[in-house]
Amino acid sequence: MQYIFAVIVPTLRQFRAIVEKNAEPETTLLQYLRQKLCLTGTKLGCGEGGCGACTVMISKYDHNRKKICHFSVNSCLAPLCSLHGMAVTTVEGIGSVKNGLHPVQERLAKSHGSQCGFCTPGIVMSMYTLLRNDPQPTIQHMEKAFEGNLCRCTGYRPILDGFRTFTKEFCQLGENCCKNMKNKKTQSEDGVGTSLVNTREFLPLDPTQDPIFPPELQTSSKFDSQSLVYKGERVTWYRPTSLNELLDLKSSYPDARLVVGNTEIGVEMKFKNMKYPVMIAPTHIPQLNDITHTDLGIRFGASVTLSRIDEELKLAQEKYPENKTRVFTAIREMLRWFAGYQIRNVAAVAGNIITASPISDLNPLFLASGAVLEVESKEDGRRQLKMDDKFFLGYRKTAMKQSEVVINILFPFTKENEYFYGYKQAYRREDDIATVNAGMRVVIDDNCIKQFSLAYGGMAITTVMPVKTMSAVIGRKWDDSLVPDVCRLLAEDLPLQPGAPGGMVEYRRTLTISFFFKFYLSVQMQLQSMQNSKTKVPSYFQSATPTFHRDPSKSSQVYQEVAPGQLAEDPVGRPIAHLSAMKQVSGEAVYIDDIPKFKDELYMAIVTSSKAHANIKDVDASEALSMPGVIDYISHNDVPGHNTWGAIFPEDEEIFASNQVLCQGQVVGAVIAHTQIQAQRAAKCVKITYEELEPIITIKDAMKAESYFDIKHAIECGDVDVAFKQSDHVIEGECHVGGQEHFYLETVAVLCVPKSEDDEMEVFISSQNPTENQLVISEALGVPANRITVRVKRLGGGFGGKETRTVLIATPCAIAAYKHGKPVRIMLDRNEDMVTTGTRHPFYAKYKVGFTDTGKITALDVDIYCNAGMSMDLSCAVMDRALFHCDNAYKIPNVRCKGYICKTNIPSNTAFRGFGGPQGMMIMEQCLTDVAFALETSPVKIREVNLYQEGDRTHYGQILKVCQIQRCWDECLQQSDYNRRKKDVDIFNSENRWKKRGICVVPTKFGISYTALHLNQAGALVHIYKDGSVLLTHGGIEMGQGLHTKMIQVAGRALGIPTSKIHTSEVGTNTVPNTSATAASCGSDLNGMAVKNACEKLLERLEPIFRDNPKATWEEVISKAYMNRIGLSTTGFYMTPDIGYDFNTGKGDPFNYFTNGVACSEVEIDCLTGDHQVLRTDIVMDVGISLNPAIDIGQIEGAFMQGYGMMMMEQQKISPKGFLFTQGPGNYKIPGFGDIPVEFNVTLLKGSVNERAVYSSKAIGEPPLFLSSSVFFAVKEAIASARSDAGHDGNFSLPSPATPERVRMACEDQFTELFPKAKEGTYTPWFVDL
Ligand SMILES: Cc1cc2nc3c(=O)[nH]c(=O)nc-3n(C[C@H](O)[C@H](O)[C@H](O)COP(=O)(O)OP(=O)(O)OC[C@H]3O[C@@H](n4cnc5c(N)ncnc54)[C@H](O)[C@@H]3O)c2cc1C
Ligand code: FES
Ligand code: FES
Repeated sequence: MQYIFAVIVPTLRQFRAIVEKNAEPETTLLQYLRQKLCLTGTKLGCGEGGCGACTVMISKYDHNRKKICHFSVNSCLAPLCSLHGMAVTTVEGIGSVKNGLHPVQERLAKSHGSQCGFCTPGIVMSMYTLLRNDPQPTIQHMEKAFEGNLCRCTGYRPILDGFRTFTKEFCQLGENCCKNMKNKKTQSEDGVGTSLVNTREFLPLDPTQDPIFPPELQTSSKFDSQSLVYKGERVTWYRPTSLNELLDLKSSYPDARLVVGNTEIGVEMKFKNMKYPVMIAPTHIPQLNDITHTDLGIRFGASVTLSRIDEELKLAQEKYPENKTRVFTAIREMLRWFAGYQIRNVAAVAGNIITASPISDLNPLFLASGAVLEVESKEDGRRQLKMDDKFFLGYRKTAMKQSEVVINILFPFTKENEYFYGYKQAYRREDDIATVNAGMRVVIDDNCIKQFSLAYGGMAITTVMPVKTMSAVIGRKWDDSLVPDVCRLLAEDLPLQPGAPGGMVEYRRTLTISFFFKFYLSVQMQLQSMQNSKTKVPSYFQSATPTFHRDPSKSSQVYQEVAPGQLAEDPVGRPIAHLSAMKQVSGEAVYIDDIPKFKDELYMAIVTSSKAHANIKDVDASEALSMPGVIDYISHNDVPGHNTWGAIFPEDEEIFASNQVLCQGQVVGAVIAHTQIQAQRAAKCVKITYEELEPIITIKDAMKAESYFDIKHAIECGDVDVAFKQSDHVIEGECHVGGQEHFYLETVAVLCVPKSEDDEMEVFISSQNPTENQLVISEALGVPANRITVRVKRLGGGFGGKETRTVLIATPCAIAAYKHGKPVRIMLDRNEDMVTTGTRHPFYAKYKVGFTDTGKITALDVDIYCNAGMSMDLSCAVMDRALFHCDNAYKIPNVRCKGYICKTNIPSNTAFRGFGGPQGMMIMEQCLTDVAFALETSPVKIREVNLYQEGDRTHYGQILKVCQIQRCWDECLQQSDYNRRKKDVDIFNSENRWKKRGICVVPTKFGISYTALHLNQAGALVHIYKDGSVLLTHGGIEMGQGLHTKMIQVAGRALGIPTSKIHTSEVGTNTVPNTSATAASCGSDLNGMAVKNACEKLLERLEPIFRDNPKATWEEVISKAYMNRIGLSTTGFYMTPDIGYDFNTGKGDPFNYFTNGVACSEVEIDCLTGDHQVLRTDIVMDVGISLNPAIDIGQIEGAFMQGYGMMMMEQQKISPKGFLFTQGPGNYKIPGFGDIPVEFNVTLLKGSVNERAVYSSKAIGEPPLFLSSSVFFAVKEAIASARSDAGHDGNFSLPSPATPERVRMACEDQFTELFPKAKEGTYTPWFVDL
């Protein structure tokens, strides 16, 4: 049988049968949708199931249960061959701008839940699937639906708010609900808006309008009963339908892989280059899908999915008494944190067992509970295999024979005196692999231990059982004397060498006993509740035991409404939705890789260095060149012009490394082929021979080797040395701030289209900086810049990562297109992007600070180091901004700060939202916290006494005018009710030993302007057509921040016309030349002024017509103007006046003005695991008079959550030799939906004006990011309380990000003491701090 009958929905409410005669077993559904069916709404964000951008809904008829099942899946992992007889619904199928949006799409767009839009189709499909299964879910159920989706822009709040309107709890009266009325009335009286969305406009959800499941898939069972074979070029796929058939196949092909969810195999094939010539899908074998309840427990067929298991165990919990289902409860709790729905909906239990991953979440539970497998082979028949300490034999090896398959697994019931718990700790709670996990079981009779089993993941190359510990305690009493003995035994039983793979050795070892301690207390509490036990768990200790709970999210957004007299058609200040949002929610918005294929188009894949520092001895591309479809291998020899470039300094780095590589991921060459898969496969076969050189990786390495770039800027004010002498106190300290991967959802993508004439070329690129790409390409090709047109419609996120580093990919692509005279395309895979394009700069600082008894800081001397990587790129400007921001929001009269830019062998680090500012401010805040510790007072008090006031001068001499820091501070304290809640936190901490809370308020002051003076300019081009419609072009890139929307609002006010008459198509170097990168938060300020300037010029020309025709409509005026031969097109230009700082003289103002804000965050940490939760955040932000409060609040929330990732979660892991381990969402975690503050309130400061930017607005892209440090410092306070309980008063260091490891290890106690850190230099660490 050689066909697929998958059914796709390309147009509204119509399924279309797809008959694919040549289904390739290695083809994923995503590739098929995008490349074969040209349905590009579904996006590729990672290709490994970790981001959800590719989510689609699959529907199938379950003939046994007689129902249609709808479930979300990651199409990037779903094999096309697995879809025979199923219906696939993509984002295009549920609605479109032309035919009408589905309510899910409409509500998301109108609720401002789509910024760059790249994650949006996946989020729409997760919600759509939820509603197909439950048209009115609870809020809690709705919030869980997005565990498998990531968004890097929005901060998630608006998405949840929009979708909350579908839930049971949502009152259909929306903002008119009686609960909101009281608030609303008082607020609207003084012009304060509290709702960015008009929910009354929303289309009702009408499930009868959903597409009808294709009847032929329901009536006929042939799709399930057919045995299938798909023969591809490299792989054959079998889908047997009987057990005998399966056993026969496995006997004939013992090496064959079984595939159910493909969530392991798919990742192995894509990223580990594994090839499995025979794949067998045991998805349709009845015995492997059975679920049977027996006397011993419940037996699940091997192919039963994790979602189905969860469903069944939930029913079992309701059916059986609590004491029988303790294993089920633990499995369900573990499944709650196992991947996201998209994975759980397809992944099967056997896949998890047989993969035998040392960090499998289920295997520790199976081992500890004594689960039993039934396995079978044709040769040896069926046998039972207990999952115990003998089951896992080695890394990814089990006791099963190669010819055997798993038939089913028995999850045992528990007895009344049997207790069972599971534990997991990861970087992120949702959708993350475990750092350490465990299953724990004990049978107790007469308070005496009869049976005891523990199993751990993450402690060895397999899931392990500490058997010595298990047997040593049999017969012991379950009392407090047990704890120290078990801890000691576990420490012996579960050793890890200091440099063990995975690193975090002391933390992992501590977790093993922390989990046991939790288990001990939980069992003790259960015993206590049943018997009249003498030993009671003190209430102070009980906080160690509850499982994680999160209340449904809540939020508020407060902003100033437009003045009552503002004309209705004047759009400025109104919360207009992002003008592309409707296209983004329907998948119609076009990104680079969505552009239809050009004729004869080729694909490029890069070949990069695998070494951090080495001479290139030889490059052998012969194997790659002999592979099917491969056209060419290009390298530095193929560059017609210059092979060097530099973002600021010429010749900073090579386009193709010629003789030496300076980091892992450096581009050495590129393979050109007919298709993506051919190019990517061939690129992996290019062999580079290296002569390795010693790399410099970390800042400390660079300091030791004195490896710095030449520029060393410094700022000095006052007399620091004298001030130290006069200070009441002087302390010294150091601070480390980690880097951060941009993780824009759309990776770098380029399409170069050469023209047949005059060396012209069009370059479509996802870049924040078209001009830079234009210039480097022109130099590399040796043609003038006027032949290269770079065009940018929109980006799927940028955050600074696409400011300069896109050149690394665009230039080779242009060289390939030039050489072959054909269009060439490339979109980096996520791992390529992460390993090649650089990150936020890691920083390290050594400081000395002087202060008075009252906490006034009098002097600061700080040496600041950043890890620039292998080239300078923008590092000197990044360092400058750190130097300018190392005062944060505090007046310090005497400052000396010096910057050192470390040259290392990692990819060149680059711009990232904040651009060194957050790192500079972080250094100040760490310093200030040290002062508070020294004075034994609250850091909030120290902040308060040092805050800048109106008219103060910064350390670089700029006078603060219209300084709103104090106002933001006061309002934030009041709105957050800080003083009362601080007391509550103190009470909580005095009552709980193992959970602690912290609450902290942090201000920010962010300077607006490029610190490179010449970049503070912008241009615009405005055309008015004869029908009165306006085409607006400017130099700013739309990357989700709503720039085009704001610019249209500016043009609307300037021209006095509604936004519906104005359109922006794209940015092109042929329309506005010499643009600065869209960066430094200046997009609206600079381009807005240029747009205003152009509009004012046009209005001046039109003025006589308006004057003579006061009643004429806009269209009539334009028509008359045309007839009068008035030019209806003009350019606008703007340069920021009166700025420019000279480091040589220390004179001049670097910034146009400052954006200020203050945040208060409250957190709760789990002292035993290092886990935390943000309970509430309140932000007060001064954005002047907002151009668009919905967009500005979206920027604040998005920046806050991105900053939260930087401060708390996102840790780059790199080996001492420069190999990056964190190459995808699987092992690099950005915040997810579940990480947002449970309560998240944002207020825009009222009555603030700013005469230095367009229509009195302020820049907002970067400034709020640092407010997330309020979480970091709240966590630090919580840790301090835990330390104090353990007798460790005084200061302690906490580097950022404050990962669970760092939080746990900072909470020093009797458990951490068992694992002292090995002495530096005595071992090679697994990864290093950059
Ligand atoms: C984004 C993402 C998140 C993840 N999160 C987690 C997580 O939180 N926790 C966790 O533990 N894992 C996680 N995983 C790993 C993976 O999802 C699980 O291991 C899953 O259970 C594998 O099931 P599958 O059906 O997809 O396996 P497949 O990839 O289809 O197969 C995996 C292996 O199992 C073998 N196999 C399958 N069925 C049988 C059988 N009947 N008999 C013998 N061998 C068989 C196959 O030959 C193959 O070697 C994650 C994976 C991804 C991609
Ligand atoms: S692209 Fe499929 S999950 Fe990221
Ligand atoms: S809108 Fe979600 S990633 Fe940009």
